[in-house]
Amino acid sequence: MVSYKELGLVNTREMFRKAMEGKYAIPAFNFNNMEQMQAIIQACVETRSPVILQVSSGARKYANATLLRYMAQGAVEYARELGCEIPICLHLDHGDTFELCVSCIESGFSSVMIDGSHHPYEDNVALTKKVVEYAHRHDVTVEGELGVLAGIEDDVVAAKSVYTSPDQVEDFLHKTGVDSLAISIGTSHGANKFRPEQCTRDANGILVPPPLRFDILEEIEKRIPGFPIVLHGASSVPQDKVATINRYGGAVKDAVGIPEEQLRRAATSAVCKINIDSDGRLAMTAAIREVFSLKPAEFDPRKYLDPARTSLRELYKHKTTHVLGSADRV
Ligand code: G3H
Ligand code: 13P
Ligand code: ZN
Repeated sequence: MVSYKELGLVNTREMFRKAMEGKYAIPAFNFNNMEQMQAIIQACVETRSPVILQVSSGARKYANATLLRYMAQGAVEYARELGCEIPICLHLDHGDTFELCVSCIESGFSSVMIDGSHHPYEDNVALTKKVVEYAHRHDVTVEGELGVLAGIEDDVVAAKSVYTSPDQVEDFLHKTGVDSLAISIGTSHGANKFRPEQCTRDANGILVPPPLRFDILEEIEKRIPGFPIVLHGASSVPQDKVATINRYGGAVKDAVGIPEEQLRRAATSAVCKINIDSDGRLAMTAAIREVFSLKPAEFDPRKYLDPARTSLRELYKHKTTHVLGSADRV
């Protein structure tokens, strides 16, 4: 058993308390490899932002659990070396079993998500409660989820029926003891968050998605005042990155994300954590495709991973400074 405290990491408790008080959101950036981790730390040190390093079960398999633990410890020391000791949390994204949560906690995670949102309500409660009881014995914080994020495959009716029900949140918190709650108010995962027929088009032909359900968020806030809310599926899908990908041989079609002004609004509410993965994937892929296309003779990985890392760093700095409001909070 390695405690996250030995690695210099923190759980989300203090981060969320300050975010709630200061009306901003903590960035939860997903990572799978060294370049992504470097870009996250560089950006958050430069903008003096607390950060959640977020790892999915797929990322953990991809990178290896042991290496990840050392990478997180390395991230803490790297931030210090860059000149700013920012709070860093290592968080399991969409944990689906009790066993996975335990394994992460034993290998240095300071926070876990148990995503029982696809289960019937009482099963979600039982699974989440079990994880909370174990995690809290190790001072690890737990994120639960109520409501299911719409997927591109869902039809509109199904998408509507899975918004978080404000009537359930108080009971869920009371029965499970979670530290934060992920809710569904119209975001979804990936770069194609809405089908074109769900959107309108602006004067330039760019897809404009339906607005988030702030009415549901406000109702939830009324039921559980001051409780930290989490927003998944919060990538904005920058159209310049999509255009670069497609200009250099890619085929990312009808990609649409959550407009930044809606995320800014969410960040000033009880939403204390905003999850961003797809935007990083797009930024990295755009930069790599550009090098591959303009310099086809290049085969030194550093020559395309370095521009990819720089592009990622700039994207993350933009998020902390201009979207989440977490810059200059350390
Ligand atoms: O919500 C999912 C995250 O974007 C992680 O995706 O499972 O492909 O690593 P992944
Ligand atoms: P995006 O796909 O919008 O980046 O969402 C990421 C996420 O919610 C990770 O849990
Ligand atoms: Zn998610």
